Formats: sequence, C-alpha cells, structure tokens
Amino acid sequence: VTGVLAPALARRSRAVRSGPIDDLFALTAGRQDLVSFAAGAPDADALPVDLVLPATQRALARWGPAALQYGSTQGLLPLREACLPVLAARGIQVSTDEVHVATGAAGGLNNLGMALLDEGDTVVVERPTYGPAVKVFRSYGADVVDVACDHAGLIPEALDAMLSTRPVKAVYLLPTFQNPTGRTMSAQRRAAVADLLVRHGVLAIEDDVYSDLRFGGSPVDALWSHAPDQVVYLTSLSKTLAPALRTGIMVVPPRLAEAVLALKQGIDMQTSSFTQAVTTELLRAPRLAAHVGATVDLYRRKRDALVNVLTAGLFGEFTWRVPDGGLFLWLQGPRAFDADALLPTALDAGVAYLPGSAFHVTPEDGRNTLRLSYASPALPDVERGAARLAACLRQHA
Ligand SMILES: Cc1ncc(COP(=O)(O)O)c(C=O)c1O
Repeated sequence: VTGVLAPALARRSRAVRSGPIDDLFALTAGRQDLVSFAAGAPDADALPVDLVLPATQRALARWGPAALQYGSTQGLLPLREACLPVLAARGIQVSTDEVHVATGAAGGLNNLGMALLDEGDTVVVERPTYGPAVKVFRSYGADVVDVACDHAGLIPEALDAMLSTRPVKAVYLLPTFQNPTGRTMSAQRRAAVADLLVRHGVLAIEDDVYSDLRFGGSPVDALWSHAPDQVVYLTSLSKTLAPALRTGIMVVPPRLAEAVLALKQGIDMQTSSFTQAVTTELLRAPRLAAHVGATVDLYRRKRDALVNVLTAGLFGEFTWRVPDGGLFLWLQGPRAFDADALLPTALDAGVAYLPGSAFHVTPEDGRNTLRLSYASPALPDVERGAARLAACLRQHA
C-alpha cells in the first residue's frame, strides 16, 4: 500500500532539502538557555509595532476596500512610486515601469529562477553565498558553480575565466554586506564585474537586502548602476522594517518584464494588496528614518559586543573581518577545524551558529568556517553567547 500511495515527487524535490536553519530550530526547540547566532532575523525589539499599527489604520482609511482587493501583478503604483527615492539613494534611477513588487526578496528570487532557468543552465555564485538562493536555482535544474572571492568580494579575473570557458545564464551576487560574510564589494570591483557582464552578455541578479543597515563608511552605488540592462536588482524591507510584511522590490529590465509577470501570476497572483498598502504608508511615515536609524544603532552595538568578546577570547587561529553593516560576522578557523562537527558541542554549551558548509556549493569547502548572526539575541545575550562560543572554540578547535 505504501508504494501505491507514495506521492510521485518531481525531480526538483530530490535536488533540495529543508535548510540548516530549519534543522537547527528542530534541534533547539524549547531551549530557553540557548543563545542563537543562527538565524538572520531582526531583533524582536526592533520590529516597529508602534509604526505598523497607525500605518495599518491609515492604509485602510485611505485605500478603503482596494487594500483588501486583488490588484495588479506588478504591484500597486503608489508603492512602486514610494520605492523610487529608496532606489535612487542606491544609485538606481528608474521609473515605476521597471519596479516590480515581490513577495519578499525570496519570492522575487523564485520568480526570477522560474523566468530565467532551464534544466542544465549554469548559474555562477560567489564562494561562499546565500544558501537558499542555491536551492532555488537547483530547483529549476540549474548547475550552480561558484567563483573565488576575497575580502572585497568576487574576483573579476576569476569571473572572467569562468565566463570565458562555459555558457552562463546568470551570475548571482550580493555586493553589499554579503550574507554570509558581511563583506562589501568596492565600487571599482562593481565596475569591473559590470564590464564583464556587458562584454560576455550575461545577466546578473543583485541581491541587496542589507544595504540600509550601514554602521560606518560611505554607501556604494548598486552594481545595477554600472550595467542597468544586465542586472536584475532585488531588495526587500524585511531587515529594516519587518519580514512579515513580505514586501520585496525588484528592478527588472523591460525585456524580462513580461515573462516575470506572467509567471508571477502562477506563483501567487500578486503580492498581498493589504501589506502593500501598509508598506506604502510606512514608507511615507516621517518616523521611518528614525526607526531605521535606531535599528542600525542597535545592531552596531551588538556587532561591537560580539567583536569585543571574540577579540578578547580567541587568539590567532580564528580570523574575521569586522563588517561595516548588515547582520553577519564570518569566522574562519584553522584548516583542520570542523564547524559542522563542533555544532552539537556548541549547542550543549548553550550557543548556536550556522556552519559555513551551509553557504558553499561544495559543503566541504566551508568546513572550517561559520556564520554568526548578531542581530536577534538581546545585547547581554550577544556577550554571553560570544563568551560561550569562544570557550568552545578554544577547547575543541
Ligand atoms: C541575501 C538574502 N536574500 C534574500 C533574503 C530573503 O529575504 P525576504 O524574502 O524576507 O525579503 C534573505 C533573508 O535572510 C537574505 O539574507
């Protein structure tokens, strides 16, 4: 009977599995004492309930039933208008025609994967990269290959060599406060990568959900600004406002728009009109800038707390670069260090992290690395958790 009732799963179901964060949640459920640096989620105290409540009331008062009705697949025009100054501040000068609303950056990525990828296509990613994106690309049958990066991001010469040796459908890049390394690609590198995209006629997907969480240094214009016809730009309000809004924004070159929209209809018809209306009101709220400023300040203090404890507690063998923004610190251990193997011991000691293998196309490449997400634990817990981790690494690495 089992055989008869077993669902016939698509091949893509076998190419992917639930992510390491889900596995960790299952393992650590109910552990009140645990400090988790695993999930890249905002601090609960930074979620702006006080802004969302009046924005919801304003949305319903101003938009009436339209906030509860079906709307255009591309997204509500007032929201797309409200996004223009946000995009312009990142060097992206576009009209509302090119702005598409997605259901989170995650929904946008899936929409793009569906629109762009055929079985056997090659997608190039950074080493390391954001794991869930690899899962999306593989679910559409893509062959995902990674290219070498250094502290300043993707190495143009390595990308050039890759693009010269095989046909590549898309390059997936996270130029600003990268998940998982926290690094930012310089303007010079962005220009060099854009030149390669144009020269080889390859499209890039620029995933940029962290750039407003800047602690220091000067903003760098988006990769998009260097090659607007070759880049699909993807951002969201999950990290600065609230993930539950599920508001993602895409800047889509006109030649791709029809396919993206036709396929989005099949995915979810549209992103919720209700949350789009609320998000529009939030983007217009005079207090928004102060909220983002306070969030940035909070995360800067957490980053500093983490770095201070690690600096005092770890010697020589472990290295990291202090990120200028975003949510992540990337720790690199000695060659023989195995972050996957150490995880159960760390959990016993009351601290969780994500092993670097989760961010590598070839998991073994990331064995001696781990990602620490400092945003969600409360400030004293960041210090406590970092001390536990440092002790664990000293004893077992
Ligand atoms: C690099 C990156 N892209 C996309 C996402 C998805 O974000 P959302 O769908 O909430 O906009 C995340 C979330 O952690 C992320 O880190």
